[in-house]
Amino acid sequence: MKYRQFGNTGYKISEVSLGTWQLGGKWGLPFSEKDAMATLAEAYDQGVNFFDTADGYQGGASERTVGQFLKRHSDIHYTTKIGRKEAPLTADHFSPKSIDRYVDESLKNLGVDALDTVLLHCPPTQVLYQPETFFELDRLKKAGKIRHYGVSVEKVEEAIKAMDYDISAIEIIFNMFRLRPANLFFDLAKQHNIGILARVPLASGLLSGKYTAETTFAPTDHRTNNRHGQHFDQGETFSGVDFLTGVKAADELKTRLKTDNLAALALRYILMYDAVSAVIPGASNPNQIERNTTAADLPALSNQQMAIVRDVYDQYIKNPVEYRW
Ligand SMILES: NC(=O)c1ccc[n+]([C@@H]2O[C@H](COP(=O)([O-])OP(=O)(O)OC[C@H]3O[C@@H](n4cnc5c(N)ncnc54)[C@H](OP(=O)(O)O)[C@@H]3O)[C@@H](O)[C@H]2O)c1
Repeated sequence: MKYRQFGNTGYKISEVSLGTWQLGGKWGLPFSEKDAMATLAEAYDQGVNFFDTADGYQGGASERTVGQFLKRHSDIHYTTKIGRKEAPLTADHFSPKSIDRYVDESLKNLGVDALDTVLLHCPPTQVLYQPETFFELDRLKKAGKIRHYGVSVEKVEEAIKAMDYDISAIEIIFNMFRLRPANLFFDLAKQHNIGILARVPLASGLLSGKYTAETTFAPTDHRTNNRHGQHFDQGETFSGVDFLTGVKAADELKTRLKTDNLAALALRYILMYDAVSAVIPGASNPNQIERNTTAADLPALSNQQMAIVRDVYDQYIKNPVEYRW
């Protein structure tokens, strides 16, 4: 494993880290604490020292399990995200009063005195124009309840706007099927010393290259029930790529890049950008974690490989994804 500076936090985090949205439960299926602990342990054994969680994941069980894991491993860092555990989502979830409540609840869930890094969990855009939200985060930082804060965003423009504030991190979708963040935002983030977490790095699994036109997912899985953005932003599911188009594009990547581990290559592609602190793939079993962490040891992609990625993106993905997010 290799480690990178996480913005101005002072933390060095594993290039390949772990997203815990599906930890121990897999989207709507019953939560298993045993599976969740085993997943975190497998990642830790592979050198992962950073977990991305949220107050709403698995009804709080993701945060609680990460909290338990922290008690045994003091070298772990994490982000937790607040503001989306109650539906329907409104800007009021990001008011100073709500933030105070959510932070207190996450402190309790994680069993800590101060939260490592707190991210606003994809707030409505208008929240970024509500300075009182960020002043409250400043106050909580001074009060010692949080150490660092940032924002998880849907769109590049939101990431740029968020840099008006004293943030340490931005979480954003960036992968072989979502190239736009690199255009303008990455350089700015570097100038401001802001850490970037690349989420949904495998386009919800499409970039593993294992799905076919016949693949189906459980009814409770967002890859079934959020394909058209029915529950949250469409860009989160398959990175906003139409499923069948994504299958074709992934097949072409596999063939032209001549790889039998497209997932690892897709993660290594993201790590070609030194503005990125870490990729945070989710994993539905330990074997996936093992395969994903090999990305840190892969050689840099050649200019020819980089050109193939761009070519496939231009041919299949750019229109409409580039214009929406
Ligand atoms: N709003 C937000 O801030 C937000 C939104 C979304 C995600 N996130 C964060 O980003 C993390 C990652 O996102 P994600 O899990 O949605 O998407 P992802 O990392 O792009 O894809 C994860 C899926 O890819 C498949 N996979 C992973 N490794 C594989 C491998 N080596 N070989 C084959 N298949 C593999 C698994 O699918 P199968 O189930 O088919 O095996 C897994 O469920 C989340 O856990 C969460 O921490 C944040």
